[in-house]
Amino acid sequence: MKAVACTPCAIAEAAEALESGLLVAFPTETVYGLGADAENPDAVARIYEAKGRPSNHPVIVHVAPGADISYWAQQIPEQAQQLIAAFWPGPLTLILKRAAHIPDAVSGGQDTVGIRCPSHPVAQELLRAFKGGRGGLAAPSANKFGHVSPTMAEHVMEEFTQELSPGGLIAAVLDGGQSEVGIESTIVDLSRLSTHGPVLLRPGHISAAQLEQVMQMPVASPDASAPRASGTLDAHYAPHTPVVQVRADELDQVVAQLQARGKQVALMSYQAHPAIQAQAWRHLPADPVSYAHDLYAGLRELDHAQADLILVEALPQEQDWQGVNDRLRRAAFDSRDVLARLLA
Ligand code: TXA
Ligand code: MG
Repeated sequence: MKAVACTPCAIAEAAEALESGLLVAFPTETVYGLGADAENPDAVARIYEAKGRPSNHPVIVHVAPGADISYWAQQIPEQAQQLIAAFWPGPLTLILKRAAHIPDAVSGGQDTVGIRCPSHPVAQELLRAFKGGRGGLAAPSANKFGHVSPTMAEHVMEEFTQELSPGGLIAAVLDGGQSEVGIESTIVDLSRLSTHGPVLLRPGHISAAQLEQVMQMPVASPDASAPRASGTLDAHYAPHTPVVQVRADELDQVVAQLQARGKQVALMSYQAHPAIQAQAWRHLPADPVSYAHDLYAGLRELDHAQADLILVEALPQEQDWQGVNDRLRRAAFDSRDVLARLLA
């Protein structure tokens, strides 16, 4: 199967497939999603099956612009209204107390629901066509559990070759070009405002500082009782090749040591390192927004180089880099062990 160009006809067909309980992958401004009717537990179960994802992990419900949020959530605090007015449609997911009729399959058995209104025009057209704009699409990133999120239709095709074969779990992949943002939405938990205030569960393009400015209150980091989020697991967003982060000033030396031991090095850097000769090299832009846009495509490309490891030049620690630093830290979560083993 090929990815489908987004003609009105293809979108109408995709909406019909979704209404009949099938899965459709679609572009959003963050990453591609693997969508199912959020109110059909069998359809949502197919997402877990296709991704190989544990069924107690909740999925985000995507809604059309102007959708009635009170259909999905039972309490909509003022802060949610403020964030919706400021950032929707866009890369922000709100965690709210769920309405009673939301299937357990969507919320992973928790009493909350994650909701987001995407800004990508194809995602919006699909949501308007699906159930006449009154439905919701449960959609995690369209990748196998724990793997790198897809930012292009080709990435989705390479993740799900089997599920996309005739009679497979996924009916279509809508091709909407490369995702603009490139990393998953910012997730803020507003379901425990009275006890914990707003909590940032996953950093992203919309920063904690922006959220704070709109709500005029501090946003906390997750505590032990924060709602579970698979994107907050230590090992996540990882290519098959081990990823290791190395400080810029140590990069030359580490590459030399690895190469002296016969190791193949794939390198991802944002500064020039003229002394290094890596087997594969991806140079990413030196600003956080463009870096995020290219990050996952870069990791996938370097994964194909079949190197012994992907060395990533460690990034600045400033607030602006929080989203990409979070994804890289999870992709490289066992960095130190990997490097020690390869240099042994
Ligand atoms: O940008 C995005 O958010 C993309 C696109 C497709 O919209 N979606 C995405 O979905 O990243 P996924 O499932 O890969 O990551 C969603 C995260 C997971 O960590 C999930 O556990 C968390 O959102 N989540 C969803 N509903 C939740 C809830 N009710 N409570 C806490 N976390 C929730
Ligand atoms: Mg994901």
